[in-house]
Amino acid sequence: MKILGINCMNHDAAMAVVDGTEILWAAHSERYSKVKNDHYLNWAIVNEAMTYGPFDKVVYYEKPLLKKTRQFYAGQYSTALSYTEMPQWHLERFGIKIDEYVKHHDSHAAAGYFTSPFDEAVVLTVDAIGEWDTVSISVAKDNKLERKETIQYPHSLGILYSAFTHRCGLKPAEEEYILMGMSAYGKPIYKDDIYEDFVEQNPFKLKQNLHRGLSDWHPEADVMDLARSIQDVTIECLANLWQRASKYGSRNLVYAGGVALNCAANQVLANLGLFDNIWIIPNPGDAGSSIGCIAASEKMHLNWKHPFLGHNIEGEYPVDAVIKELTENKMVGVANGRAEFGPRALGNRSLLADPRGQDIKDLVNGIKKRQKFRPFAPAILEEDVNEYFTLPTAVKNTPYMQFTAPCVRGKDFPAIIHYDNTSRVQTVSKSDNPGFYELLKTWKAKTGCPILLNTSLNIKGQPIVNDVADGKAFEKKYGVKVL
Ligand SMILES: [Fe+2]
Repeated sequence: MKILGINCMNHDAAMAVVDGTEILWAAHSERYSKVKNDHYLNWAIVNEAMTYGPFDKVVYYEKPLLKKTRQFYAGQYSTALSYTEMPQWHLERFGIKIDEYVKHHDSHAAAGYFTSPFDEAVVLTVDAIGEWDTVSISVAKDNKLERKETIQYPHSLGILYSAFTHRCGLKPAEEEYILMGMSAYGKPIYKDDIYEDFVEQNPFKLKQNLHRGLSDWHPEADVMDLARSIQDVTIECLANLWQRASKYGSRNLVYAGGVALNCAANQVLANLGLFDNIWIIPNPGDAGSSIGCIAASEKMHLNWKHPFLGHNIEGEYPVDAVIKELTENKMVGVANGRAEFGPRALGNRSLLADPRGQDIKDLVNGIKKRQKFRPFAPAILEEDVNEYFTLPTAVKNTPYMQFTAPCVRGKDFPAIIHYDNTSRVQTVSKSDNPGFYELLKTWKAKTGCPILLNTSLNIKGQPIVNDVADGKAFEKKYGVKVL
């Protein structure tokens, strides 16, 4: 059974192909259209998907008619009534016919559980909004998922966080990760006011519908303090949800939905002692549901190996050439092998740099030109992680940069340390990515340092590099070699 899974007309369109239990390919639309967070599919990604066809079935990641009932309720009448807002209308131009629709949270939960190493687990999904559901808890065993609890729109932790993202001058449904980074710089002085005006706990509820934002709530506030306040409230709400999930008795948690990308919250949550093992698919947001809807339809564990599932650039991983560039120029781009499926560059579409010393952050920022307060992430040999970072108690490794962790040797690596002395760590083992692992091993043998600074390889304002031409364009624009 060869199946095509699709997520589109949302904030990050994606496609995936599964054959039996093997994930053959999965990719983000934006990497082909060069439109960041592209909502729609395009011929380039569709044509690449079709090289894996023909397909026995096409599955879509949510139920559009059910979504329209929520849009009616929310007063989004023109969207709800528009035929052009139906996915089948968009897919017709590519000659694609949807055979099956899966509920939004069922796609999220299946993306998590059926790629996890667990036979039995509790599955917690938290996102902004799909159809109606915003939080769901399911119990999973023997390839069956049984829903136990659901919270519905307008009570949405994701919408609350997005409303604050907007309030702080950032783009909602896209730049929540920047708000999370800002939170380290603020004081939680608006926490009580957030509870007073917006949030009830146990069960989680919003006191007002925040779908259209907060307007000028506390206009005098420093945005860093707002960021810290909402981050702390979010962590407390999530801690309650993790607690509820733990009541079902499993020590294995599958955590899904876009909110699971909040790696600073994940650090706190994974230290609560509620679970022994945690699995978060590297693409827990809606794009990952292109795999999830297939898994939900087939009800079968997939053979998860790694997130390198996208466009392929042929060739050996350029270990020696990368070391040479790092030694001579401290910085180098890598565009090799299959592209990462997920928001993080994990070694195949990465800008790498020597993390040691004071000047490297400014050097990399000269290219990335992002806010000065944002540090870069460290990639470290898995066997050395405990010597440099204190991982959360329920986390043995973090190959997909899903948790922040305090750095015990922060002053040696200022470029990869956040203001609060944590880093968004990527551990690298041979099975995660043999080429990148070999590179780190060789780098350590040469320098004694098992860490490389790893940030995404992209031209400012554009999605991560996908193909050879993108790599060449990066090299030409910035004068940094891409191998
Ligand atoms: Fe979602």
